[in-house]
Amino acid sequence: MKVSVFRRAHFNAAHRLHNPDLSDEKNLQLFGLCNNPSYHGHNYVLDVKVKGEVDPQTGYVMDTKILKDVIKTEVQDKFDHRNLNLDTMEFKTLNPTAENIAIVIWQSLRKKIADSLELSVRLYETENNYVEFDGK
Ligand code: NI
Repeated sequence: MKVSVFRRAHFNAAHRLHNPDLSDEKNLQLFGLCNNPSYHGHNYVLDVKVKGEVDPQTGYVMDTKILKDVIKTEVQDKFDHRNLNLDTMEFKTLNPTAENIAIVIWQSLRKKIADSLELSVRLYETENNYVEFDGK
């Protein structure tokens, strides 16, 4: 009997979507407002889902206090109030689209969460635009 546990976290970050291999015109066409050279911000909402068997001793799949702390260390401490392009190693050369941010976050959390638990992340860039990654 597997149960899914969710934890929500927020972070605010600036980014610019740009592919240096393409012309400025093509970048503007592809990324629109998100290509603004002066950057712009998003209030990201991250939903982390951990799925697994309930531990008979604790009644937990995973202690949400521990999950909260892992998200803080692996995501918020790295990305909150940062310029993703300029201030983080992860996006020095990787275009910080919601898709790529979700992959980076998943990979970072995966290392800190027990292998026996399934992990999925959903990242909201806006209320209406969001992506999901489960490692596959
Ligand atoms: Ni954007």
